[in-house]
Amino acid sequence: MAGTEAGGPLWSGRLEGGLHPDVLALTQSLDIDQRLLPYDVAASQAHVRMLGRQGIIPAAEAAQIEDALGQVTIDDGATDEDVHSLIERQLVAMLGDTGRRVHAGRSRNDQVATAFRLWCRAHAYRLQLAVADLQQALLGVAERDGTTVLPAFTHLQRAQPVPLAHHVAAHAWALQRDVGRFVAAQDAANVSPLGAGALAGSSLPLDPAGVADDLGMRTSFVNSLDAVSDRDFAADLLYACALCLVHCSRMGEELILWTSQEFGWAALADDVATGSSMMPQKKNPDVAELARGRSGTAIGRLTGLLATMKGLPLTYNRDLQEDKEGVFAQVDATIGVLRLLQLAYEGLTIDAAKMRAAAADGTTVATDVAEALVRGGMPFRDAHTEVATRIAAGERFDSPTPEEAIAARQGPGMPGRVNEQLTELTALIATTRAASAPTP
Ligand code: ARG
Repeated sequence: MAGTEAGGPLWSGRLEGGLHPDVLALTQSLDIDQRLLPYDVAASQAHVRMLGRQGIIPAAEAAQIEDALGQVTIDDGATDEDVHSLIERQLVAMLGDTGRRVHAGRSRNDQVATAFRLWCRAHAYRLQLAVADLQQALLGVAERDGTTVLPAFTHLQRAQPVPLAHHVAAHAWALQRDVGRFVAAQDAANVSPLGAGALAGSSLPLDPAGVADDLGMRTSFVNSLDAVSDRDFAADLLYACALCLVHCSRMGEELILWTSQEFGWAALADDVATGSSMMPQKKNPDVAELARGRSGTAIGRLTGLLATMKGLPLTYNRDLQEDKEGVFAQVDATIGVLRLLQLAYEGLTIDAAKMRAAAADGTTVATDVAEALVRGGMPFRDAHTEVATRIAAGERFDSPTPEEAIAARQGPGMPGRVNEQLTELTALIATTRAASAPTP
């Protein structure tokens, strides 16, 4: 069993004999938390720099440890309990007694919370960029086919004509709120727990604020107990991902409808479509279905972490080790689905004639016909009844045309002014892309 130099886990001083292999198998988390390595290394380097600055360990040894930390890798067949144990084992192997100084004033409890926060911070930022890429793909549809008219729905029934640009922009606005949630999740993660120790700090002259500063974190913890037991930042990121995937699911559902033979409004590019193993004619929108499907799992992961947290007494409990698997999978799924949809929209072919024909069925402008009667002085309820009666009797309206109906809707946020929205979205995407990446 790998562990410290002596061959046991980090805590082996207290307990006698080795750990039962089945217990090790159940308790170990290296398979999952090895993704924290670069973040734990960066946090550990900030910690030893502080130990050196504060004179807790000799400055020369601090420099040696910092250097050695940069050489830690996940070795093949490692059986350490977790990534933190692996790091310390390798430090001791590289530096002997000097390596044994790294954990002064630190516990794995504040260590894992810090590394996980840095991971979440970095990935909340990456998610913003992935969302911006999908927004850009939606704006690409608007650029290519934005003036095409379609009937927008309520209750999935033809309602009123809008330009396709207005329709795809609606998705882009939902995604813009996701960007806001990812920015907030990045900020929630951006607090350093280092210095909280196991739960009640340390009697050594640590400098938590200096470490937070070194890591580019907004602030350090204000309560050591809260610092090691708080996983709100992880729940925030899970929620932001879940809602983003719900938005992706709605886009996926729409692509499924639009590319069906029944609608025939759009076609996926061949390189994002899938076939059937038996039916030679099939071109399936699996990509859109996976966007829809992964959102269901995502909602479950959020619920899972909340359920894990709800009964925990202060402070750290090993239950919290369960936090990472779901968050890693959630972020992977979200980045993956955002990319799939980006590709789907980039290659999407719109059948403008079919879309417009649906909008120009002589009924979608019924509200506009009624509003013309209102302009002539008729009370709206009477106008509604008159137009409804004429439609029921089989009348269809060719005036106004769908394009004229759209052009008459010029209020803010309305389809006649869609170009303003596109300009605004373009600027927002640029703002997202201009934000600087957190390090690490
Ligand atoms: N692998 C653990 C986790 O992810 C690290 C913290 C372990 N702390 C402890 N006191 N056993 O939560």
